[in-house]
Amino acid sequence: MAAILKVTDLCKAFSNGSVQQHVLKNLTMNIEKGDFTVIMGSSGSGKSTMLYSVSGMDRPTLGSIIYDGQEISKLSNDKLAIFRRKNCGFVFQQNYLNNTMSVIDNILVNGLLVSKDRKKIAARAKEYLKKVGLTAECYDKFPSQLSGGEAQRVAIVRGLINQPGILFADEPTGALNSQNTTNVLDIFTEFNQDGQTIVMVTHDIRSAVRGNRVLYLKDGVIEAECELGRYTPEDTNRDHILREFLEKMGW
Ligand SMILES: Nc1ncnc2c1ncn2[C@@H]1O[C@H](COP(=O)(O)OP(=O)(O)OP(=O)(O)O)[C@@H](O)[C@H]1O
Ligand SMILES: [Mg+2]
Repeated sequence: MAAILKVTDLCKAFSNGSVQQHVLKNLTMNIEKGDFTVIMGSSGSGKSTMLYSVSGMDRPTLGSIIYDGQEISKLSNDKLAIFRRKNCGFVFQQNYLNNTMSVIDNILVNGLLVSKDRKKIAARAKEYLKKVGLTAECYDKFPSQLSGGEAQRVAIVRGLINQPGILFADEPTGALNSQNTTNVLDIFTEFNQDGQTIVMVTHDIRSAVRGNRVLYLKDGVIEAECELGRYTPEDTNRDHILREFLEKMGW
């Protein structure tokens, strides 16, 4: 397997007045193509900061981020934006859908930033909506007319519409009830089985066991990694392995 993302000695500091807070301290990690990598760590450990830095949403203070052979940390703002749109998909705890646009337009707007082939993007949007369990009845609805779980599924389709090399998710089930959490995790698992590389931050063990590896972030570095292998619903042992790992990490 080839690394799609190679992060080396990543540092991120924030200045709060005269005080510098060093959040990421020479963090190094690789993401292989097809991986479903989960990032865990205590609140404030820098998980979101790391996700935003490696996905081109924010800039690291120092360090190297090589995506598919290309160094992205030194791209100009314009080039970084183009890179991000094309190669990175995002899902957050909130769906951040635009309430003044229909469901289908929310997705198309993202797709048309990368491709001018409206027909192709619309067809893909409809295919993915079907895949996440949403029928044609939802196309012209406004996000406010959807349930929380439906809206998050639309947000996932928006995140995947440009077939990004990596889907970055920051606590994507954090605002959902138990049934909707399962739906979203099943969608992630299905896309990952079809080859989608995913990097997901979560606090939730039930979500984390969907990954094939869990990286634990502590004191600004990846403290340790737990290998879980590919997820299958029958494999109940992974829950036990992860709990033991997290206990060792003092989680
Ligand atoms: N834009 C910013 N300006 C200043 N400090 C920041 C900024 N973003 C994050 N921080 C600080 O960096 C640290 C790490 O924040 P981050 O949001 O990455 O944590 P996290 O691990 O995602 O936490 P949580 O699990 O609560 O989401 C925190 O102390 C936070 O206050
Ligand atoms: Mg966070």
